[in-house]
Amino acid sequence: MLTGKQIVLGVSGGIAAYKAIELLRLLTKAGADVHVIMTRSAQEFVAPLTFQTLSAHPVHTELFSLIAEREIGHISLADRADLFIIAPATANIIGKIAVGIADDMLTTTVMATKAPVLIAPAMNVNMYTNPIYQENEQRLRRFGYQFVAPVCGTLACGWEGQGKLADPAIFEAALSALTPKDLAGKKVMVTAGPTREELDPVRYISNHSSGKMGYALALAAARRGAQVLLISGPTALTVPAGVEYLPVESALHMQAAVMARIGECQVVIKAAAVADYRPCERIATKIKKGSQPVTIELVKNPDILAVLGALQDRPLLIGFAAETNNVAEYATRKLKEKNLDMIVANDVSQSDAGFNVDTNRALLIFRDGRRIESGLVTKMQLAGVILDQIAGELAAGPQVE
Ligand code: PMT
Repeated sequence: MLTGKQIVLGVSGGIAAYKAIELLRLLTKAGADVHVIMTRSAQEFVAPLTFQTLSAHPVHTELFSLIAEREIGHISLADRADLFIIAPATANIIGKIAVGIADDMLTTTVMATKAPVLIAPAMNVNMYTNPIYQENEQRLRRFGYQFVAPVCGTLACGWEGQGKLADPAIFEAALSALTPKDLAGKKVMVTAGPTREELDPVRYISNHSSGKMGYALALAAARRGAQVLLISGPTALTVPAGVEYLPVESALHMQAAVMARIGECQVVIKAAAVADYRPCERIATKIKKGSQPVTIELVKNPDILAVLGALQDRPLLIGFAAETNNVAEYATRKLKEKNLDMIVANDVSQSDAGFNVDTNRALLIFRDGRRIESGLVTKMQLAGVILDQIAGELAAGPQVE
């Protein structure tokens, strides 16, 4: 995800400095080349050797260091950065940057960089809510610095409140900061997961959809700057950051949610595995076991995608096709019958594609007959391929037929 990206990670002196080690590990695992700068106080909490070993680069601690420097160290680092992260950022370092003090390696390099700067504060709650700190943060925000707000919890100093480093969110914020915002200003609806069609209060009919494909699309679209509305059947997944989430249960619930919000959206991606049938009747009390065979009568659910395809003024429509045979033929039929712009066909009979796995293998088929094969990729990678096509279609504007 971050291959070829140069990231400068500034670590300032707080107890949360040890959490920057895990952030460094995530960044390098994702392919980034990370250069670490530590302030003098940060070195009181964690030894530079730890960061040096994990980043495979010497750690920068001194402004006037002669090691390996034919270039001017802080300027070369500042120029090289695609992204600058300061985590944890103390009230002191934020105050210094806000007023333009550049008196050590970290503050000087931040001052010299043209890269986006992501600041993750961590401090005592009273320091965080202090109007002096708040004014410094607002001033930096006005200059375009991005912040990952600290979270609430028990702080190292014993106080309860907001001030803990939001470490899980920093990696996601870094990915987002490095992603071009080619879907900015667009609202994208993604449907995901299975639907549940209840037979009685304890039983239902459903399918094997985990929601992974739809959630990957929602996350990837949000990273690209889209406003994302995720309408999802029941899953065990965490809702991606920055995404509006509407949980639903049955196909009828999903239809109601989709139709209520369709007018706001420029793009709809229907990755949900909607049950085609539901029981004719939901029994109000638990059906009791008996010795006789039980017959369940089913009635057809509305085809939500087909309803959207028939709208006069419809958004860009992307459907999925879960097939086990004649994949291209059946998917093309669905594309035409449901009046879609694109269909993503996946062969769900394969163990590494379709339901409840992290990978997929898809054939994208367009209205004009064009086809793209993804090969075996992760669901995040497939989401990228699909969104590239959507961004292209949006940029090209409506086609006259
Ligand atoms: O959730 P995962 O575990 O990650 O699995 C991903 C997936 C296999 C569910 C996904 O990749 C996928 O293929 N989703 C579509 C599944 C499906 O219902 O396919 P279908 O061929 O039955 O339906 C075609 C299209 O019509 C789909 O976009 C579906 O959302 C839509 N549909 C279907 C029936 C219905 N009543 N209303 C609909 O809108």
